[in-house]
Amino acid sequence: MMFLKFQYIAVLTILQCIARAAVITDYLIGKQLLNKRESYTAQDYAVSTLPSLDGIPTEQIPQMFAGYVDIDQSIDEKYFFFRFNKTQASNNNRLIFWYNGGPGCSSMDGALLESGPLFVNQEGKLEYKKGTWLETGDLVYVDQPAGTGFSETEQPDSELNKIADDMLTFFEKYFALFPEDLGKEIYLGGESYAGQYIPYFGARILTQAADKYNLKGLIMINGYIYPDVQNLSIFDYALDNKLITDAQYNSRKVQQMIAACNTTIAQTQEEYASIFKTMEQTGEYESTDGSDSNKVEDDDCSSILEALLDMTLDKSAPTDQQCLNQYDFSLRDSYPACGMNWPVEEPALNTFLNEQSVYADLHLDGSQKWTECADAPYNALVNHNSYPAFFKLPYILSKVKIMLMVGENDLVCNIYGMQDMVNKLTWGSKSTPGYSNGVNWGDLTIADNSTVFGQAKYEDGLWLAKIAGASHMVPYDHAVASRAAIDLFFDDYSLDGTTYVAKSYGDN
Ligand SMILES: *[C@@H]1O[C@H](CO)[C@@H](O)[C@H](O)[C@H]1NC(C)=O
Ligand SMILES: *[C@@H]1O[C@H](CO)[C@@H](O)[C@H](O)[C@H]1NC(C)=O
Ligand SMILES: *[C@@H]1O[C@H](CO)[C@@H](O)[C@H](O)[C@H]1NC(C)=O
Ligand SMILES: *[C@@H]1O[C@H](CO)[C@@H](O)[C@H](O)[C@H]1NC(C)=O
Repeated sequence: MMFLKFQYIAVLTILQCIARAAVITDYLIGKQLLNKRESYTAQDYAVSTLPSLDGIPTEQIPQMFAGYVDIDQSIDEKYFFFRFNKTQASNNNRLIFWYNGGPGCSSMDGALLESGPLFVNQEGKLEYKKGTWLETGDLVYVDQPAGTGFSETEQPDSELNKIADDMLTFFEKYFALFPEDLGKEIYLGGESYAGQYIPYFGARILTQAADKYNLKGLIMINGYIYPDVQNLSIFDYALDNKLITDAQYNSRKVQQMIAACNTTIAQTQEEYASIFKTMEQTGEYESTDGSDSNKVEDDDCSSILEALLDMTLDKSAPTDQQCLNQYDFSLRDSYPACGMNWPVEEPALNTFLNEQSVYADLHLDGSQKWTECADAPYNALVNHNSYPAFFKLPYILSKVKIMLMVGENDLVCNIYGMQDMVNKLTWGSKSTPGYSNGVNWGDLTIADNSTVFGQAKYEDGLWLAKIAGASHMVPYDHAVASRAAIDLFFDDYSLDGTTYVAKSYGDN
């Protein structure tokens, strides 16, 4: 997993130079494919087979569609999507788009390790994913922004605003292929840095295409929505979970970092909020301050995670256990990877997706090798004119509902940070920030299983759910619980006292 990555810019540049020579011939082939693509229909995207798919019981094999749509031919920009629906009649009318984070990490993680119906195990074989969200909606996984996963471009996007434009273009192309999906309730979901993408997409649809798409809600799992505030929470969260000692927490260095980050937040919050108000009033989403700083994450909060991970270094442990796994604090990893070698299925997924036969099955031309997290879109996204997605939430919540789901073992986008963020958010009919007094947590269970999977609370369109023992990638290790949480969001639950009882699909 590479949610926040180390840089390999120099190496990448050299590799790109070498790759250029080979591009010329591929380019011609690509152009021919591209002209053909103009006339494609849904059937041209049908996926009829995948290696080891026959190991799955026939009734659990989903219907699949995958391939490219063009976004901007002038820069050879195309998006790859992977769509799943049930083979037997669907019992709902929902369509969920899914985005992984990074920036630059592929949504094939979501499709083949998390909420999707198929799971690539460590042997590289497909299994049916217990707890898949396919039971509660049709699913479309999109590799974006271009340069991510299988999606290609000659010019990666530099602003979240542009990425939102591209998603609107993707929607136009996608729904032209699957017009029957236009009648469905649309949800946007995903995780981590998608906490930036999803509110940008949601706000863009609501302001520019509300009449076209029946957008019903946004689902963000361990979303990176207000980076400063969430980074600030890391030391407190680590202390309360005994990842660092009182002495470490109280050290001068740590206290100075906390104070500096806190000051930055106080300084920027008012400024950003007023910029966003203006943007919403004018419908103009580019800022005009002209400075070349990254507005989404620019400041004194940036060294907190690294400092924390350094503190957890245990040189006496075996090499692969010396650091904390920042995505699940109950696990360890080597240093300085600290979680980058996780999930353990990642190498097998990489091999699987780069098999020639899989390229063919997914209607790919093999022109871009799959990597979990790509550097080019990460490095390109400088966000000089885009602000943290947090400031879009009040507007979005005035139109549609939002679910914030948090795996409680995640350190990087931990539950404290999410709560701190909500405590700064004023939404709905309230005039003070945060959930009102008296809005309490209720336990989350499932109809035929009384296990308490976590807790949830709700007020005025905003759900907050925390999933016990789950990592940064909740549906990877707690898929059943993650599906129960989104069924709360879909109103598919009953109340037993203060306990939320989600629907059962018999695969708990
Ligand atoms: C699955 O999706 C395809 C493409 O939209 C559609 O033709 C088919 O009817 C769907 N299957 C079910 C069971 O809804
Ligand atoms: C951050 O500053 C605010 C005042 O702006 C204060 O109330 C709060 O306690 C501070 N938090 C930390 C973690 O220092
Ligand atoms: C939060 O921490 C990460 C990891 O160190 C860093 O890359 C990012 O810039 C930080 N965000 C902010 C707003 O400082
Ligand atoms: C209930 O869920 C827990 C946690 O996922 C699981 O360990 C247990 O086997 C489930 N029990 C039943 C009866 O399905």
